[in-house]
Amino acid sequence: MRRLAPVCLLALHLAAQTPEEYFHSAGAGFRATPEEERLFWRPHVERSRARILEAAAAAQGRSVATVLGAGVCTEIPLEELARRFDRVLLVDMDGASMVEAVERLPLELRSKVDIRVADITTFAAVLMRRLRRAVEESADAAEAFERFGSILASLEPGLLPARLPPSDLIVSSLVLSTLHRYPLSYADRLLRTRFGVRLRSWPGYEDARRRLIRLALRDHFQLLRSACRPDGAVYLAATVTRGPAYWQFGEELARKVEREVLPAFRRLGIAGDDEPLALAVGKLCHARYGVEREIEAFERLLAAYEAASPDTFETMVDVDAARAEWRRAGFEAAPPQKWWWIEYPCSIPHSPGGFRVLSWILRPAGATPGGPSESMLPKWP
Ligand SMILES: C[S@@+](CC[C@H](N)C(=O)[O-])C[C@H]1O[C@@H](n2cnc3c(N)ncnc32)[C@H](O)[C@@H]1O
Repeated sequence: MRRLAPVCLLALHLAAQTPEEYFHSAGAGFRATPEEERLFWRPHVERSRARILEAAAAAQGRSVATVLGAGVCTEIPLEELARRFDRVLLVDMDGASMVEAVERLPLELRSKVDIRVADITTFAAVLMRRLRRAVEESADAAEAFERFGSILASLEPGLLPARLPPSDLIVSSLVLSTLHRYPLSYADRLLRTRFGVRLRSWPGYEDARRRLIRLALRDHFQLLRSACRPDGAVYLAATVTRGPAYWQFGEELARKVEREVLPAFRRLGIAGDDEPLALAVGKLCHARYGVEREIEAFERLLAAYEAASPDTFETMVDVDAARAEWRRAGFEAAPPQKWWWIEYPCSIPHSPGGFRVLSWILRPAGATPGGPSESMLPKWP
């Protein structure tokens, strides 16, 4: 009995978690251990930072840079932005992570960075509070699901997105795919803790998820458009797919990937002449090879699976739908850059470990009717 007590206390704490606490605990999960970061995140972090500075250079003004979903600013070149812009505004529901990001800056730059703990959607925080009340007031999961149905059915985009200063640069880095996921994963956690059931067992789950995705896309691009100066730029990066999901592999696919990847593994000295790929992959992540070699091996592997069977990757952002929404909001963009973020390499091959990242630089389309002119942008103190 005594061994159960901490588990019960933890369960009570999780059940009582407010949306704000949830954002912070989820944010704490978005940290690389120093080892993982040193080994595998570096290419993603470096490419993100370089591309954000490219977007900064595309913006005409130097007054305000706004970073949405800033978190601990892992892939944001915060110091360079603080040097380049008069003010930098970080916005996230997770205040503690943003404080940590600012505390890493040289002292003389800290006063140029403001932190705003706020919802960057018109719906997430309100929805999470309503879902929490529904779980707390329900006698069982069936009743909670019924309440969820009415809450979702009455969900409409808010009239006004979060009020942001007119910004020369807006950074939205790896945020898009999280906007609908946080409310859903929060509801899942509440349900598991109180009733021991998963949100996915709710018959209305798929509909609710699709509805939230649509809402999140529209909401986000309207927010970006409402705050981006006519001569400004937006850096948009999204984790569009995650994978590969090895449990989906049939023999045929495995052989196809093997044929594709083994020569590279041999060239890297990771696979011997007659060695099967699975054995070679098992040798990675034990600090046996240099960082660069391991990264190249993982990138080759991910690319081979992506090419052979995109279905083994889970879609996180529907790129066509996102493009339609940013066009509708009055943005245009050149073709994206793409790279891999190998977030959990050491979980491969047992669970998905890599993300395909796409990044765009969005510019307000000059002639688009309905786009805000400078005088229509909200006044900012
Ligand atoms: C994957 S992390 C982004 C990481 C961050 N760009 C970095 O460089 O470390 C997603 C961030 O979006 C924030 N977020 C998600 N939904 C949000 C919302 N509705 N309002 C405000 N922040 C949100 C999370 O708290 C989290 O910090």
